[in-house]
Amino acid sequence: MKKTLALLAITLLLITNIFAQTIQSPDGQLQCIFELKDSIPYYSLTYKGKPVLYSSKLGLTIANGPSFMTGFISKDQQTSSFSETWNPVLGEVKSILNNYTELSVKLSQPRHNREMLVRFRLFNDGLGFRYEFPQQKNLNYFVIKDEETSFSLNGDHKAWWIPGDYDTEEYNYTTSQLSEVPSLFDKSYDGNASQTIVPMALQTPLMLKSGDGVYINIHEAALIGYAAMHVELDPKSYTLKSHLTPDAQGNKGYIQTPFNTPWRTIIVADKAEKILASKLILNLNEPSKIANTDWIKPVKYVGVWWQMFCPGQGSWSYTDIDNVHLGITDYKNLPPNKTHAANNTNVKKYIDFAARHGFDAVLVEGWNEGWEDWFGKSKEFVFDFVTPYPDFNPTLLNSYAQQKGVRLIMHHETSSSVTNYERWMDTAYRFMVNHGYNAVKSGYVGNIIPRGEHHYSQWMIDHFNRAITKAAQYGIMVNSHESVHPTGLNRTWPNAIAAEAARGTEYETFGGNNPDHTTILPFTRLMGGPMDYTPGIFQTRLDYYQPGDTRYVKTTLVKQMALYVTMYSPLQMAADIIENYERFPDAFQFIKDVAADWDDTRILSAEPGDHIIIARKAKGKDDWFIGGITDENPRTSNVELGFLDSNENYIATIYEDGKDAHYITNPQKYNIRKLAVTNKVKLQQKMAASGGFAISIKKASREEINNLKKRRRN
Ligand code: NOJ
Ligand code: CA
Repeated sequence: MKKTLALLAITLLLITNIFAQTIQSPDGQLQCIFELKDSIPYYSLTYKGKPVLYSSKLGLTIANGPSFMTGFISKDQQTSSFSETWNPVLGEVKSILNNYTELSVKLSQPRHNREMLVRFRLFNDGLGFRYEFPQQKNLNYFVIKDEETSFSLNGDHKAWWIPGDYDTEEYNYTTSQLSEVPSLFDKSYDGNASQTIVPMALQTPLMLKSGDGVYINIHEAALIGYAAMHVELDPKSYTLKSHLTPDAQGNKGYIQTPFNTPWRTIIVADKAEKILASKLILNLNEPSKIANTDWIKPVKYVGVWWQMFCPGQGSWSYTDIDNVHLGITDYKNLPPNKTHAANNTNVKKYIDFAARHGFDAVLVEGWNEGWEDWFGKSKEFVFDFVTPYPDFNPTLLNSYAQQKGVRLIMHHETSSSVTNYERWMDTAYRFMVNHGYNAVKSGYVGNIIPRGEHHYSQWMIDHFNRAITKAAQYGIMVNSHESVHPTGLNRTWPNAIAAEAARGTEYETFGGNNPDHTTILPFTRLMGGPMDYTPGIFQTRLDYYQPGDTRYVKTTLVKQMALYVTMYSPLQMAADIIENYERFPDAFQFIKDVAADWDDTRILSAEPGDHIIIARKAKGKDDWFIGGITDENPRTSNVELGFLDSNENYIATIYEDGKDAHYITNPQKYNIRKLAVTNKVKLQQKMAASGGFAISIKKASREEINNLKKRRRN
């Protein structure tokens, strides 16, 4: 009997081909185990000896052939370690350490005579892995039915999530335990944004926190040639499974070997601050493909923009939209709409303002023909991107701007007629170069043409990447709106200077952004790359423009200032109508001073959904800026200035919510005070409900400190 059992065990071992390989992060805190059990590949992850992911399945199903799920044997495994330091062109820090342990496992399916590799990179702050398909005789082309990667979480974590949607991320976040997602799922579509509901799927970056205080962030890196990923939740087992965006035919990807999928990323930390400091996603992207990056510069800009969102202040279209609806197409012979904002006089006013206050650029929307009837009709041809309205002169305005040391930013709203945009793209970029533009804000409002494609399907991912790489050839920086969640590609294509791909300030005028929104975004959307959030609204209540209007920006004025530090982007807009800055010149000074590109960043304190305090050192300067924000709860925070040079004196200018400030009842109340500080100083900063603080710190001489003290005494 014993003998038979032993024999059986050996035979089982042989057929099941159990194989396991373990790697550790450079600091030994994270451990990743790859296993082949019953010829199926699995991985698991532990942090400080505790499970983060239980044994989780790997693989893909194929629409036109056998799947990459089972029947594998391990052919070869290689482990190695890697360390480099690299300097981003634009960034939060001057140099980034890219240090990991790598395991690559070559799997073969003897029955189909095919091979697939799984490559793991384990960093001190998390894991990245991807599938690789070498070119081979039996695998030239295949169609993906779905990716079956799972993330088997070790508990009912708290999650900060937005619901699955193949076309938009423009949602407020819901905070709940994973087990509560089913009961909250339908409510999480707020009616405003939803284009394509994906049942029980959550969007990434997905932020999670375990009961024992481990923070986990799940996303993807280097999304190239592949559909974007959501994760489907099984609320009973707390398992997430990848869910790729389908194309018009329901397929998820057309692959030609050799091909590597994007990386799946799991960032892990015992402190929320470490999540925000992680550079894992950037590290998993390839180095810059642009050889000469001298022309890629941080951009602070104002724009003919917010006025279009404020009642009676401006419109994109040259004439009234009704003219087209009434069948009047000869609109050039009509008098212009009194509020057409992109007119020469108004644009000049914005250029003058930008020059006077040291901004780099002016965005102008509504400059080109088509806005009379652009929205929601799934029309193939709306814009040609080269025909200005009669009252906008691109030659004159660009030379006017450049005389004043300012650039204009082009606007390409594609109305999601992407085939049309693809046809015009070279012409449109050439038009920009010929007129002196070096940056474009592109937009993808509405349903995608080709019809049935989605914003996040493979065809569109290819389009977004084509738009960026082509722009690089023309020396153009791209800020794309309604584009796919960024995945760190700004390392490879630093001209992809920022993107929207989340609910930005515009939504304050249609539905509103929750007071906790910007305390969550850095943990979610911004994990993939910089966001053009468009902060800086000083006139938060819209009844200022139209009595009785109940809409308002759900922050205090000071919180709007703090966002320039807490929401990292090398492209930052001072979004308000410029007249409003003239009403608050002392507060506006902070927006004028704050940098957009940094040598150093310290995440001083953070908790998703509650508060964020960040200090950053301006690129090539000794100036520091601190931003602090809170959700709907007022709070007092300690801010230690230990990051300042020792034995140096500084003057801090502190912009803080005034007494009784409140985001609803008293948003514009603020104080400004100056203080002599050193690296020993601990500040206690109060923040109002949905308020914050902004601090600028400059080195000061003895004399300047004495003068300040004298002034304070008097
Ligand atoms: C949506 C963008 O997010 C917004 O910034 C832009 O003004 C409109 N589309 C019009 O293109
Ligand atoms: Ca948008």
